Amino acid sequence: MKIVSARFDRSVFRAEDEPKDPGPDVVFLGRSNVGKSSLINRLLSSRGLARTSNTPGRTQSANFYRVNEAFWFVDLPGYGFAKVPVTVRRTWEGMIEGILQRRRERIVGGVLLVDARHAPSELDRSMREWLREFGLDPVIAVTKADKLSGNGRAEARRAVLEALGGEPILASAATGLGVKEIWARLDLALRGRTWTSES
Ligand code: GTP
Ligand code: MG
Repeated sequence: MKIVSARFDRSVFRAEDEPKDPGPDVVFLGRSNVGKSSLINRLLSSRGLARTSNTPGRTQSANFYRVNEAFWFVDLPGYGFAKVPVTVRRTWEGMIEGILQRRRERIVGGVLLVDARHAPSELDRSMREWLREFGLDPVIAVTKADKLSGNGRAEARRAVLEALGGEPILASAATGLGVKEIWARLDLALRGRTWTSES
């Protein structure tokens, strides 16, 4: 995919505030602090577009990025961050589901991120299961792989494959590892769904 333009469109705290401009969605899902916003920046080759943070649970909104004025990248709030009041957590987990349901027809692709250094959690498994029922087969990105050596990476990929299936891609927002592969899959998902002339 040739990125001609990428811009932040809006932060949404309620699913009904979603943007209405046409175009399919690619959604980014994963535990809080796993590196969703960082990977979005890497995929779009723009360092500061998506806000990243050392503090887990920072992105409590869904953030919409308009790419090539043709499709959406949707940075969903991270799930599974324990250190917030249950009510807050329910609100934003409800919003994740709300947005996925409301934009069901638009969603053509997704990236589910897991941290290469930890085995997928119960929440990751249930998210995967939920997406399966929803009808979305996400790209599974095993990110922060730069923190592991070659052996560790292979091990991590195997663990993720076992837990979540799919064809996990070792990735790193820091080094760009896996970015080409992720784009290749997203290209396939987006093909024929946007109206810009792509070659
Ligand atoms: P929430 O919005 O809170 O759910 O977090 P997020 O999933 O968007 O994570 P974010 O991109 O903000 O990254 C969290 C932290 O991990 C930041 O300090 C990033 O710099 C770091 N990080 C993200 N991806 C990578 C990676 O591939 N390698 C390394 N070494 N660090 C990373
Ligand atoms: Mg984020």
